[in-house]
Amino acid sequence: MRFKAVKGTRDFYPEQMALRNYIVDSWRRVSLRNGFVEFDGPVLEYLDLLTAKSGEEIASQLFSFVDRGGRQLALRPEITPTLARMVSAKINSLPRPIKWFSVPRLFRAENPQKGRLREFFQWNVDIIGADNDILADAECIFTAVDFLHEVGLTHKDIIVRIGSRPLTVAMLRAAGVSDDKMDSALAALDKRSRVSPEAFIEIATAAGIPAKSLDDVCRFQDSKDLQEIKERLSGIAAAEVELEKIRTLMEYLDDMGLSEYYQLDMHIVRGLAYYTGIVYEIFDRAGSLRAIAGGGRYDNLLKLVGGPEIGATGFGMGDAVLEILLREKGKIPELSPKLDCFVVDAEGNQLKQVIGITTKLRWEGIATDFASKPQPLRKQLTLANRRNAQYALIVQKNNIVGIKNLATGEQKNVEISRFLENPYEYLTSDN
Ligand code: HAM
Repeated sequence: MRFKAVKGTRDFYPEQMALRNYIVDSWRRVSLRNGFVEFDGPVLEYLDLLTAKSGEEIASQLFSFVDRGGRQLALRPEITPTLARMVSAKINSLPRPIKWFSVPRLFRAENPQKGRLREFFQWNVDIIGADNDILADAECIFTAVDFLHEVGLTHKDIIVRIGSRPLTVAMLRAAGVSDDKMDSALAALDKRSRVSPEAFIEIATAAGIPAKSLDDVCRFQDSKDLQEIKERLSGIAAAEVELEKIRTLMEYLDDMGLSEYYQLDMHIVRGLAYYTGIVYEIFDRAGSLRAIAGGGRYDNLLKLVGGPEIGATGFGMGDAVLEILLREKGKIPELSPKLDCFVVDAEGNQLKQVIGITTKLRWEGIATDFASKPQPLRKQLTLANRRNAQYALIVQKNNIVGIKNLATGEQKNVEISRFLENPYEYLTSDN
């Protein structure tokens, strides 16, 4: 019987692992330079924590089970509830603002499709307890763009679409949606761009948006700019202060040099129920892929999991859509592993010398491997090239080693003992 990888999961052969590491290393580097520190939590959490305020969509995608002690557990589909739990537990001893990042492995029982898997990695960047909430929102958006720019994507490739939960809630209230239906009405609006207009009408009315108000709600979502959003909300008192927040956010983003990277878009509502403020998703400009990242402000989540009332904001970016986009744009760098040296045995009977040289160089921190079986020299040199070695070290008779620069073809012969006294002297690129 032959086994395949479980549906929606991936095997990371060395080539794919190199790409994963490239992405994760870049996530880490950019997080650190933006002042975030790394955390992680367990892959398993109590089901109740994960369903506390995440919403129906994600709850329906959980890999959950009852353990032998009768506890209801699940594999984490996101790390935000874990973050809220961990920060709440130590809130008095953590210096603020809490600027944390993480790269968790996550699990969602989704229907696997382009960019959506059942097991994936997601970069999370969050700020909790900031003095200036809107600046913290802007800082998170900046960090996401900083990374995308780092891996070669510019405003020509990606766009941050920014919406507002409170403005959308204000619109829905004015449209006659009652508070007990608010979460499902928001979830319906979140789906609008992914379903047909007919399907949307069905979903929206079932979610409690009165049919007679649907046009108004859609026009609000379709607003082109801040002015139009304002007009659609005229007469709704609660909107003014939220519009001001959006204005301030835009100012900060402009100050950060991101003017060309963002756009207001009231279609952005987010699928998770815990968001309370500004929300955003990052897309490819062509709009052909699912969201690359999504996030926003979630000021009530810590309290909901037993913690303090404290402002929080952040985003998650998955590796799957990102990889597709990098590939489409030709932005995946050459990632094949490189060796400094590859030791070959010209005579076919010098294994002891080969082992001696290899070991000494490895101790010195020089990446070295060797031909593990006697073969004609030509074949061994081909192998050295294939392994991306900078030098072939050709062990010859009479304790001589030939140091061959594989890029230039130049070769210098020296006594092995002299070479090993100071290998760096011979392994400089002008050799
Ligand atoms: P989310 O929108 O559910 O938000 O996911 C954020 C990103 O994770 C998506 O834009 C996508 O790149 C990736 N992602 C989501 N589901 C999948 C999947 N099935 N396969 C591959 N990639 C996927 C959250 O998870 C929030 N907890 C983010 C957050 C952090 N909000 C505040 N802080």
